[in-house]
Amino acid sequence: MSLSSLKMINLSNLLKHSKNGAGIISIRSGSWWSGVQMGPPDAILGVTEAFKKDTNPKKINLGVGAYRDDHGNPYVLPSVKKAEEIIMANNMNKEYSTIIGIPEFCTAAIKLALGDNSPVISAKRNATTQTISGTGALRIAGAFLERFFPGNKEIHLPTPTWGNHIPIFQDSRLTVKRYRYYDASTCGLDFKGMLEDISKIPPKSVILLHACAHNPTGVDPKPEQWKELSALIKSKELFPFFDMAYQGFASGDVDKDAFAVRMVLEEGHDIILAQSFAKNMGLYGERVGTVTVTGQNEDEKNRVMSQLKIVIRPMYSNPPIHGARIVNEILNSQTLKADWLCEVKGMADRIIGMRTALKDNLKNCGSQKDWSHITDQIGMFCFTGLKPEQVERLTKDFSIYLTKDGRISMAGLTTGNVKYLAQAMYEVTK
Ligand SMILES: Cc1ncc(COP(=O)(O)O)c(C=O)c1O
Repeated sequence: MSLSSLKMINLSNLLKHSKNGAGIISIRSGSWWSGVQMGPPDAILGVTEAFKKDTNPKKINLGVGAYRDDHGNPYVLPSVKKAEEIIMANNMNKEYSTIIGIPEFCTAAIKLALGDNSPVISAKRNATTQTISGTGALRIAGAFLERFFPGNKEIHLPTPTWGNHIPIFQDSRLTVKRYRYYDASTCGLDFKGMLEDISKIPPKSVILLHACAHNPTGVDPKPEQWKELSALIKSKELFPFFDMAYQGFASGDVDKDAFAVRMVLEEGHDIILAQSFAKNMGLYGERVGTVTVTGQNEDEKNRVMSQLKIVIRPMYSNPPIHGARIVNEILNSQTLKADWLCEVKGMADRIIGMRTALKDNLKNCGSQKDWSHITDQIGMFCFTGLKPEQVERLTKDFSIYLTKDGRISMAGLTTGNVKYLAQAMYEVTK
């Protein structure tokens, strides 16, 4: 059938069904997409665009959530380079992976998250599949929950949370609700508000928790608080879903950063876990992660796994191989893994050092404000507490780029620019 006859059929349908005539205009103009409205630009990518256009040599981009070295350059981990050399030397083929990716990678990845001696892994209770990084893990989990979660399809997210969580779960057709998390008056955790809100969540809902290095606030519950949360979540019959995008990146210690996930499993919960290797191995563009659903026994795991495959297959058939090969090589080699653990610690330590440097420089500038939250917070981001108008001044007067909520990516700081940033922050807050 020709395009013009297709359009004729469409036109008569539209004449029959269209009430406002908007569709008719689109056909008359000969375009299929004239009714598509311009969407808003991505908030974070917009910051980078504006940064690129700025010609001030002192400009700083604190918007991007990617690690930079002390010269402000992207960092390819030496362990990753070595793993790639091994892969190249092995002259591997480029055949399709399986629907769930590279099985040895999945095993190594979940062992990193849950620990080598995890009883969940030895009981074969974990359905773990490779995913297209952390975002893909969240989206696959969203689709799985929408199909199979026996509760009310509500997912409760902290306020604030990573911006992408909301559309990911909306697109998964879950009902997105929120619970209090951050206290703007202390730039810390609103633990009381969090407990109050969680205790009001209807039973058999899903609660999303950032496993460590909460994005965007950098504020995490303490171990005792995690224990209290775990007990509350259990007593309210909620299902914990952990997003772990920063294992190792928060404290520099992969085991310490996995505390909440491991403790909750020990307390007898089943969980979903989204894992990403974007930050802790610097594999941003390789898109490598996993999603794990734990079940009560191996049989339940097998049934869940079969359905995860059915969710994945029509979405993208099977995941990319290169990133997973790198992670597999690193985690399964004693020496490469030891190198990598030092490198993650190196990245975390540089960020922790920048926190102290920023706080000290603010004090040296003469700021009387309490900036202790800068060093209390953890991970890639710092929620500075700067108001939108102060952020605007930072950008306009000092060419410092960040999101309107006052979040700065600590990785964008260097020994060369921290003084300039502190001076500018002092100027806009005095
Ligand atoms: C909290 C959180 N979850 C998940 C992700 C997913 O990242 P990716 O898809 O690059 O692994 C990010 C990235 O910024 C994040 O901050």
